[in-house]
Amino acid sequence: MDLPQQPVYAIIPSQGPSIESDRLLLRPVCDSDAEALFAFRSRPEIAEMNHPKEPHKSIEETREWMSTKTFSEGPSDVIGRSFHYAIVDKSFSKTQQRVIGSLSISQVAPFPEIGYAVHPDAWGKGIATEALQLLLKMWWDLPRRTAEGDSAHPVEVEKVFALCEKRNRGSCRVLEKCGFKVVGDYQHEQDELYIFALDRS
Ligand SMILES: CC(C)(COP(=O)(O)OP(=O)(O)OC[C@H]1O[C@@H](n2cnc3c(N)ncnc32)[C@H](O)[C@@H]1OP(=O)(O)O)[C@@H](O)C(=O)NCCC(=O)NCCS
Repeated sequence: MDLPQQPVYAIIPSQGPSIESDRLLLRPVCDSDAEALFAFRSRPEIAEMNHPKEPHKSIEETREWMSTKTFSEGPSDVIGRSFHYAIVDKSFSKTQQRVIGSLSISQVAPFPEIGYAVHPDAWGKGIATEALQLLLKMWWDLPRRTAEGDSAHPVEVEKVFALCEKRNRGSCRVLEKCGFKVVGDYQHEQDELYIFALDRS
């Protein structure tokens, strides 16, 4: 199947909102998070399920990866903006805030795509599921530009998408728990992927 095509309807602010639950805070990633993000981006278990499959070798490499989260395609008002969030474990004191993962709308063109990772020390506690639900709430709550359709090309229900390797059962489960459905398959080099989609309800 071809990759999805969908314009971005969200109007993305220059400084994104933050959101919290009892145990997590999601706030926009900043440059000083590079070390904390490197702590898990340098782990083979994280690299194995991402593309390219090489763990980050330096904080500088993590900074370069962080810069890829800034949108370079899409409507002119989204270019230069991003929707990249640090997952902060609130059980640590404010001065020792611990970033235990990150997630983002990693691109908006040709379709809005979700990406995330959690530090392996924090796996299996529902962190990714809870953080993704919080991110989706912020995303759906953003103001929207008017969709332009006509009788030949009616506007479809807005969606957000995720590509996930079929063998990545943990991540497929996170997406399913957040309401995503498989809408197709996609092969990227050696990787067999599911295309997941979630409707804006
Ligand atoms: C995928 C990832 C984000 C999950 O983080 P997490 O905080 O452990 O996720 P959660 O605890 O919210 O949910 C994981 C679910 O997957 C299930 N799961 C985990 N490993 C599994 C496996 N090998 N087979 C089947 N289910 C599995 C868990 O049981 C849980 O489901 P449950 O609540 O129904 O029991 C984390 O493993 C990670 O960062 N992986 C590497 C990066 C990555 O894969 N990113 C996504 C790319 S698409």
